[in-house]
Amino acid sequence: MNIPESYNQLDQWTTVMFLYNSALKAINTKIEILNNEFIHLYNYNPIEHIKSRLKTPDSIVKKLKRDGRDVTIPNMIEHLSDIAGIRIICSFTSDIYLIAEMIAKQSDVTVLYIKDYISHPKANGYKSYHMVVTIPIYLSEGPVDTKVEIQIRTIAMDFWASLEHKIYYKFEGNAPAHLEEELKACADMVDMLDAKMFSLNQEIMKIGEEQKAEKEKM
Ligand code: GTP
Ligand code: MG
Repeated sequence: MNIPESYNQLDQWTTVMFLYNSALKAINTKIEILNNEFIHLYNYNPIEHIKSRLKTPDSIVKKLKRDGRDVTIPNMIEHLSDIAGIRIICSFTSDIYLIAEMIAKQSDVTVLYIKDYISHPKANGYKSYHMVVTIPIYLSEGPVDTKVEIQIRTIAMDFWASLEHKIYYKFEGNAPAHLEEELKACADMVDMLDAKMFSLNQEIMKIGEEQKAEKEKM
């Protein structure tokens, strides 16, 4: 991302946040279109809901300091990948990979990196699929590649992550051991629930197809 150096700090900040906000809008629209196409083609809605947010100035400063960096606009552009963040919540694990692939395939989206915490969950039990991408935002002077962090997870994974996040913050990372153990046990239940819901859904779809085939015979 190249911001004209002649801009003063405030102008730079405003421009940078404008870019991240525009990137959020652009990615959001792409995801909505993909979801609508699915409804149109297959009468099927892979996305439950989407949340997006811009990182607050407070958390930007906190994260730069946590990582031992000077609080500057170039550092934030270079080192923070989640200033613009989108979370996509799906019903089934299989939808996650489908959506990730459809986003990655778009010709103006560049995938910088992927962290697949579904095939490789974190030790605490955290599961989610993370993609950091860039998308060009067209300003009058030309395109500016802008980073967006996309997190894709199931409803059950999201439920788990919000509770874990709450506990983590409450105890500032030093939660009592039994809470951590119980959270880990809940993560296993999330796996079971996701697997069960998936197989139930497969069965329901199969019955639907059989009924349709029967009707067409008549
Ligand atoms: P930060 O942890 O944000 O510095 O980034 P990172 O470089 O470690 O990236 P990672 O992909 O691991 O995490 C990015 C984001 O995913 C975090 O900011 C959280 O929103 C979410 N996340 C990662 N790990 C956890 C976790 O253990 N629990 C919860 N609740 N969320 C997590
Ligand atoms: Mg992390």
